[in-house]
Amino acid sequence: MQAYHITGTSGLDSLKIVEAESPTAAAGQVVVQIRSVSLNYRDYMNILGIRGVTGPIPRVPCSDGAGEIIALGSDVTTWQLGDRVVIPFMPSWLDGPFSQAHSSAALGGAVDGVLRQQVAVSADSLVRLPDAMSFAQAATLPCAAVTAWDALIVRGQLQPGSTVLIQGSGGVSIFALQIAKHHGARVLAITSSEEKASRLRQLGADATFNYKQNPDWATWALEQTGGIGVDHVVEIGGPETLNRSIQATRFGGHIALIGVLTGTSGEIQTVQILRKGIRLDGVYVGSRTMLAQVVDFFSTSPHRPIIDSTFAFSDAAAAVSHLESGNHFGKIVITLD
Ligand SMILES: NC(=O)c1ccc[n+]([C@@H]2O[C@H](COP(=O)([O-])OP(=O)(O)OC[C@H]3O[C@@H](n4cnc5c(N)ncnc54)[C@H](OP(=O)(O)O)[C@@H]3O)[C@@H](O)[C@H]2O)c1
Repeated sequence: MQAYHITGTSGLDSLKIVEAESPTAAAGQVVVQIRSVSLNYRDYMNILGIRGVTGPIPRVPCSDGAGEIIALGSDVTTWQLGDRVVIPFMPSWLDGPFSQAHSSAALGGAVDGVLRQQVAVSADSLVRLPDAMSFAQAATLPCAAVTAWDALIVRGQLQPGSTVLIQGSGGVSIFALQIAKHHGARVLAITSSEEKASRLRQLGADATFNYKQNPDWATWALEQTGGIGVDHVVEIGGPETLNRSIQATRFGGHIALIGVLTGTSGEIQTVQILRKGIRLDGVYVGSRTMLAQVVDFFSTSPHRPIIDSTFAFSDAAAAVSHLESGNHFGKIVITLD
């Protein structure tokens, strides 16, 4: 079979297509023929080896894949050949609390990921796809959608009438917008262009603000909430946005700390976190149970994943380059024949 490897050379040249041995299904495993993969910002960091992200070289990148089962381990009775499935970001985290062991098993990080034609994976980790959900739609969900769900629904306990602030129009943020609107929240969105702002409003954002034209979006968020501040921030920027997120959050509010777009460390107004009694909540994706909830949400609610563009398997480097450009709106998908 064909697989992509992160080879550790500079830039996008690090990504190389290779011939690799097809996997077999050990006891408790199935082999999935991958039909679609989606990209996350994390994959870009892994491929380029930036923001302190390291791992074994070579390794297969990407965490998010969907496909059909083509082989069953001898003891597997819960699946049949041809079943359509999506693979969780951390296949060992079925339910319950997060752990270091689950984190270490994240696909495309310390272990091989899904940007290859076939993957052997534990049978009990998989989530079945509804007939109406395409492989491309399903492949958008394991990292970004589960993270948004964990941030707002599981940890955030989002209530109708709450105000949620989202940052930008990438994978996590658009899923957060859709989930928040469906649960009766008001959504404030900051973004880099008027065109993206208009598309965010079409998806339900109640108010938008261009952070490129004016970086002081925290004052705007306070004005939008009568000086009180927002209930939740889906914080994807990191050190350069966190102080503004703290400023924009109400007393007793919640910040889901998710992203590292502007770096991995910085000077933070810690006193404002305690003075305002803000719950600063580190989120790292979520469990198989959350993925099943997200698959259900994006097939039974009126909302569907927003796919910016699809690329052929042979054009994976172009797909990563498109993510790097920041010109995308929603998810970038790679399809395999
Ligand atoms: N902790 C976790 O579990 C977890 C899970 C998923 C992702 N993440 C992290 O979350 C971040 C987003 O991931 P993603 O896959 O959703 O990325 P993505 O799809 O590449 O989206 C990135 C978007 O963020 C916006 N953006 C960039 N810089 C910004 C800034 N300074 N302020 C506000 N918005 C900014 C831009 O949208 P506009 O052009 O519209 O502004 C950009 O297109 C990454 O750092 C990723 O590593 C963490």
